[in-house]
Amino acid sequence: MAFKRTKKIRKKNKTQPTEEFILRTPKGMHDVLPSEQPYWDRINKVIRSVAELYGFGEIRTPILEFALLFQKTAGQATDLIEKEMYLLKTRGGDLLALRPEGTAPVARAYLEHKLGRVAQPQKLYYLGPMFRHENPQLGRYRELTQVGFEILGGANDALYDAQIIAIFRRILAELKIKNVKLKINSIGCRSCRPQYLRLLQNYYSYYEKEICADCSRRLKVNPFRLLDCNKEACKEIKEEAPNILDKLCSACSRHLKDVLEYLDEIGIAYELDNYLVRGLDYYNRTVFEFFAEEEKNNVGALLGGGRYDYLIEFLGGKSTPAVGGAAGIERLIVVMKSQEIVFPQKSSKKIFVAHVGGLAKKKAFTLIERLRQECNVAISEMLSKDSLKAQLKVADRESASLALILGQKEIYEENVIIRDLQSGLQETVPLSNIVEEIKKRL
Ligand code: HAM
Repeated sequence: MAFKRTKKIRKKNKTQPTEEFILRTPKGMHDVLPSEQPYWDRINKVIRSVAELYGFGEIRTPILEFALLFQKTAGQATDLIEKEMYLLKTRGGDLLALRPEGTAPVARAYLEHKLGRVAQPQKLYYLGPMFRHENPQLGRYRELTQVGFEILGGANDALYDAQIIAIFRRILAELKIKNVKLKINSIGCRSCRPQYLRLLQNYYSYYEKEICADCSRRLKVNPFRLLDCNKEACKEIKEEAPNILDKLCSACSRHLKDVLEYLDEIGIAYELDNYLVRGLDYYNRTVFEFFAEEEKNNVGALLGGGRYDYLIEFLGGKSTPAVGGAAGIERLIVVMKSQEIVFPQKSSKKIFVAHVGGLAKKKAFTLIERLRQECNVAISEMLSKDSLKAQLKVADRESASLALILGQKEIYEENVIIRDLQSGLQETVPLSNIVEEIKKRL
C-alpha cells in the first residue's frame, strides 16, 4: 500500500524523489558487488602490468571539470556535448561537468602542469568513472569506467599510433577475450578533410529526403557523423558514400601507410574501414576501434581512440602531436562473461577462529587481531554465534583450511587447538607459540 502511495506522489511531482527511489541506484548506474569483484581485480591487474611494461605513468584527474573544457574539445555538434553531459552550477556560479571522457582532462593537465617542458612524449594512463546521460542498454551506461592510454608531445610519429593499438591488443589478449577485430581508418587533417566533407555533404544532400531526422541535422552541423548512423536506410546510403582515402593529402596517406606497416610488423591484424569515424571532434588522421565479434551480447566497440594533434591547441597550447585510446571496463566484463572467461582464483589458506564461552570469545577477538597483524593472513570468524557447531559450519562454507579453537579449558591452560579442516586432525599448542605455528603452516 505504501508503495502505491509513493507512486501517486510520483505522478503528481515527477522530479520529487520518493521513498521507492531511495532503494535504487539512479538509472544507468550500478553497484559492483563482491561477486563481480574478481573481474575488476583481474582487469585492474592486467592494466597496471601492461602500463608498466610500456612505460606509462598513472594520472588522476578530478571527476568534475569546467564544462567549457569538454565544450571546447569534444565538438559542439556532438551527442556528448548536446545531450549527454551532466552539468551542475556551483554556489559560486561555476558551470562544472561530471567528466564524460578522459582525454580532454589529460590534455588540460598536460598544459596546467607544463608537462610539455619535461621529457617528451609524456605517456600517461588513467582509470576511473566517466558519466554520460545516454539511454542505458547492455554495455551502455550512464556511469561507466574507462581505462585510457595517451601519448602527448614528442614527434608526430606513426609508431605511437601503432603502440597505442598494441597496448590495447595486449590488454585484450591478457584478458583472454577472443574474436577481437580491429577497425582502423584515417580521417585526414585540416588541409584535406574540408574538401572531403564538402563532397560528403553534396552526396548526402541528394538523399536528403531519405535519411533519418538525426542525419538531416548532421548534414548541416557535423557531416562526418552521417557515416556513423545505424538506421537501415542511412546504412544503405552510406555504402555508396565518397571514400575518404581518395581525398587524403599525401602526408595523411603516408601516415596511414606507416601505421599499417607498423601493425603488420608486430603481427596485429586489422580491417581498414573507410567509414569509421568517431563520436568526438578532436581527432585527426588515425581513428580505430576494437570489437569482439559476439553473436549474442553485442556491446559495440570495446574501445576506441585515435590521433588528436589539435587538441592541445584548442586549449591554448602550442601544436602538440598526441594519440590515445580508451576502453570501457563494463563492456570488457560483459564480453568476458559472455565468452565464459574464468581466471584462477587465489588459493590462499584461510584461517577460521572459533570459541566456546564468553571468556574465550574475548580471547579469540584478541587472537584474531594479533594474527592479522603478525602473520598478515586472512582470518574469518563468526564470534557472534555461541555454538561451536554453527561456527564450524561457517568455516566449512568459507573453505577455511585451518580452525583455531579456544574453549574454557584452553583459556585456563593458555593453549589453543589447531584443527586441520580437511583431515580433521588436531593438536593443542601453547598460545605463546601460535604465531610461529601458523607461519609454519602457511
Ligand atoms: P569513446 O569511444 O567515447 O572514446 O569511449 C571509449 C570507450 O568507452 C568505448 O569504446 C566504450 O567501450 C566505452 N564507453 C563509451 N560510452 C559508454 C557507455 N555509455 N557505457 C559503457 N561504456 C561506454 C573516448 O572516450 C575517448 N576519450 C577515447 C580516446 C582516448 N581517444 C583518444 N584517447
